[in-house]
Amino acid sequence: MKITIFGSGYVGLVTGACFAEVGNDVLCVDIDRKKIDALNEGHIPIYEPGLEEIVVENSRAGRLKFTSDIREGVEFGLYQFIAVGTPPDEDGSADLRHVLSVAESIGTYMQEYRIVINKSTVPVGTADLVREKISSVLAERSSGVDFDVVSNPEFLKEGDAVNDFMKPERIIVGVDDPRTKELLRFLYSPFNRSHERFIAMDIRSAELTKYAANAMLATKISFMNEIANIAERVGADVEAVRRGIGSDSRIGFSFIYPGVGYGGSCFPKDVQALERTAHKYGYHSRILQAVEAVNEDQKSTIVRKIRLHFGEEIGGRVFALWGLSFKPNTDDMRAAPSRRVIEELLQAGASVRVYDPVAMHEAERIYGDREGIYYAANPEDAVKGSDALVVLTEWLVFRSPDFEMVKRDLKTPVVFDGRNIYNPEFMEISGFTYYSVGRPPRGV
Ligand code: UDX
Repeated sequence: MKITIFGSGYVGLVTGACFAEVGNDVLCVDIDRKKIDALNEGHIPIYEPGLEEIVVENSRAGRLKFTSDIREGVEFGLYQFIAVGTPPDEDGSADLRHVLSVAESIGTYMQEYRIVINKSTVPVGTADLVREKISSVLAERSSGVDFDVVSNPEFLKEGDAVNDFMKPERIIVGVDDPRTKELLRFLYSPFNRSHERFIAMDIRSAELTKYAANAMLATKISFMNEIANIAERVGADVEAVRRGIGSDSRIGFSFIYPGVGYGGSCFPKDVQALERTAHKYGYHSRILQAVEAVNEDQKSTIVRKIRLHFGEEIGGRVFALWGLSFKPNTDDMRAAPSRRVIEELLQAGASVRVYDPVAMHEAERIYGDREGIYYAANPEDAVKGSDALVVLTEWLVFRSPDFEMVKRDLKTPVVFDGRNIYNPEFMEISGFTYYSVGRPPRGV
């Protein structure tokens, strides 16, 4: 099948490469020429395990091509995916400028039947706007070409996106026309082999499914962070509570890990956008507001613990920060808790020695040569001469460090663990003062 993907960002690139991987001819379009040139030379602009291999392999096989020529894109594929960014605008609603501009181009250049598929995360009702936009451009051209609009949200996790695409748990397709539904079912058939994962529904339900899924996961995390905060006050251990409730299959073990708050490009943005959509339709969502408020507060809990330990005045102190990305296996620092922690420490006059296995270049892009930030060469280098170690992302390499070295190189043996990756007894026996999330501090 011939497929065009508008937007060669994270979602577009993974979608394009995976469709090519199963034998389709895919053309990825992006207005950023530099990005397209780099992709044509086999350079991937993002860090995503397994992606580079399939991009390079399928480009070489001639099944995956890149262009910045929009017209060529519209003429190429029967399936036209929209996978452009929907950044939040000032009030937290999703900004649809890019989505509607692609719709306009499709309307402008379309010469025969096209299926326009929305993959970008967009508010309920966007498919209707896309349809209206294309229809109005066609009317201006006095063209009667037929087209259909479909909603097909993505559920890709950063760090595991290729796998999520190749072996999806569900393929959500919002579609009105029965014939288009079958064309979509055919397109996804290579990824829908062992059992039925294709779930077709009306368009608005598909659009809402995406937000509901992310909001539910974010709710689980905020709920658990709140339980952690309660555990700290009543002297309980949230890790025991987590195991205790997770074993109830109705609750489950996933997404109930307390920590320093969720970050990334989806949860913060989508919770806010759904709340705005509800508001627009006259509904005040107390749960969504609380999920966001708890998360915002959670990002500050570790600095509060630092102040409790060292006293309000932390100016002049130095902190080693391990982990900058919003989660392991990605270099993405969008809405990462580390950014709040860095900001609060610098504001207080402290300095930071930061280290991350892959996000160093991203950190340097964000902070440049800002005063108070030292970019460490490795975890050991970050610890050297610091007053305390602060762990913010649970990268595997941080799980079993050389604690003798850490103790020797820190000015005082204090560890603030924002992800509960160390065993409190072990830390105390090893001579550390140890603070974690939702568990009593040790060695204080
Ligand atoms: C998420 C959804 O999982 C994915 O389906 C959707 O398409 C996009 O948004 P992603 O943002 O890549 O994916 O990250 P995810 O693995 O879901 O983690 C999100 C955040 O929640 C991270 O900051 C992570 O550290 C945090 N988290 C996750 C917790 O704090 N506790 C948990 O138990 C799980």
